[in-house]
Amino acid sequence: MTASYPPLRDIPPEEPPLVRTTPLPNPLRDVRDRRLPRVPGPCALVVFGVTGDLARKKLIPAVYDLANRGLLPPGFAMVGFARRDWGDGDFAELARKAAQDGSRTGFRDDVWARLSDTIRFVPGAFDDDQAFDTLAQTLISMEETHGIQGNAAFYLSIPPAMFPVVLKQMQRTRMADNSQRGGWRRVVVEKPFGHDLQSGMDLNRLVDEVFTAKDVFRIDHYLGKETVQNLLALRFANTMFEPVWNGNFVDSVQITMAEDVGIGSRAGFYDTAGAARDVLQNHVLQLLALTAMEEPVAFDAEAIRTEKTKVLGAIELPAELEHYAVRGQYDQGWLGGQRVVSYVDEENVPKTSTTETYAAVRLNVETRRWAGVPFYLRTGKRLPRRVTEIAVVFKKAPHLPFAKTDTEELGHNQLVVRVQPDEGITLRFGSKVPGSSMEVRDVSMDFLYGEAFTESSPEAYERLLLDVLIGDATLFPRNEEVELSWKVIDPLEEFWAGSKPARYRAGEWGPREADEMLARDGRVWRRP
Ligand code: BG6
Repeated sequence: MTASYPPLRDIPPEEPPLVRTTPLPNPLRDVRDRRLPRVPGPCALVVFGVTGDLARKKLIPAVYDLANRGLLPPGFAMVGFARRDWGDGDFAELARKAAQDGSRTGFRDDVWARLSDTIRFVPGAFDDDQAFDTLAQTLISMEETHGIQGNAAFYLSIPPAMFPVVLKQMQRTRMADNSQRGGWRRVVVEKPFGHDLQSGMDLNRLVDEVFTAKDVFRIDHYLGKETVQNLLALRFANTMFEPVWNGNFVDSVQITMAEDVGIGSRAGFYDTAGAARDVLQNHVLQLLALTAMEEPVAFDAEAIRTEKTKVLGAIELPAELEHYAVRGQYDQGWLGGQRVVSYVDEENVPKTSTTETYAAVRLNVETRRWAGVPFYLRTGKRLPRRVTEIAVVFKKAPHLPFAKTDTEELGHNQLVVRVQPDEGITLRFGSKVPGSSMEVRDVSMDFLYGEAFTESSPEAYERLLLDVLIGDATLFPRNEEVELSWKVIDPLEEFWAGSKPARYRAGEWGPREADEMLARDGRVWRRP
């Protein structure tokens, strides 16, 4: 008997993809490929700031991995732009090293050989008119040489202060204008999306002057993580979670984004930002929005962004910020068996810095679904381990027909979405302890991505770059989301301005004040 497959939703390109990989010895592969032939059309990817950390560690490896998976189109070109006295070969060399060091799918010479043929480099500073004229010309000539058909995505992997000058150059040379050459023109903007509401709005206005809103892709790489997308599958593809996903059953929600690393060599940026601007404003609030939003009417950009926007607009900070907003800075301590220095002793951090490396806050989402349910958010560096999770903590059963002594070790039911590492979901509930008494104790049931599926998860940047080239904005926040998120963060920053952060020892779960914040509400932080 032959299996029948659902009809193709996308039309595969007529020509073979840029690089074909050897089929995996997986009997399901054909089925998957028929369902998801998401290959973009011909296009160029222009990366500004190609010598920077992000480009080397994430973007170039992601482009290589897409090539290795056969997901780049035949008419593809990658153009690097940076202030270096380089030719195409020098950039290709940097890209090769970046791909070798960072590839997820394994480096292969044949894949590289084909990809490196598509690489071009345009040297120049951002205020150099001639360099931008050359870039515009390069894109035009690539229609002939590479068959990019006038399509181009511009990735701004550059310091935010440089955005205005680069955008103006694109406007001047009409590179952003697709009426010139046909095809599409898109721009990818990396966070930080401003420093506060005002600068976020200024940035949005600037980008919107040069590109049409539908062509602007703001990257929040957390939305590219499989587990974050799985939150939507968990909630909206199943029947058993949604009925209890509200204030009638949920006691509280805890969202944790913890890192064991310090600030590395990013003092210049980090010391002017701090944990709230760097992570709460974007990654953590996006996780909250996906956790709290209503079901979208369709799984597309418009519907999902609309629902997230409603949640972000319904967030309220508590009146008593002195009790429900805590920021901290790490002191020296021990992590992974090594002594680590305090934040103010990190390279290039001023000794008097009061920037927070930890932030925790209690928020409310003022909707019928979530009225009265506190959302506790926390993020920090130099915490004991790298872990991101969303824990939905349920109310206790209103009545327990067991002896009190038998339920002493029964806690709240919890559903924990483990974003990273150990990607998966844990359900915690009470279970009878074997034996003659009716003792009930908490147990955990785990779903682990690594065990349930044979295919490994694409890197967030791999997924998001592919979406940009395809033109699918579902996983990219739109400008209202950015502005609403600043409306949550600005009052916190104002409240903290001029005060000193609480201290915590590197390797501990944040300052004592953060524990007190939950204790005030009769709760405790989860130990992830
Ligand atoms: C970035 C922040 O957006 O996310 C960094 O600027 C942080 O400070 C990083 O370290 C964490 O990303 P991930 O994917 O490693 O959890």
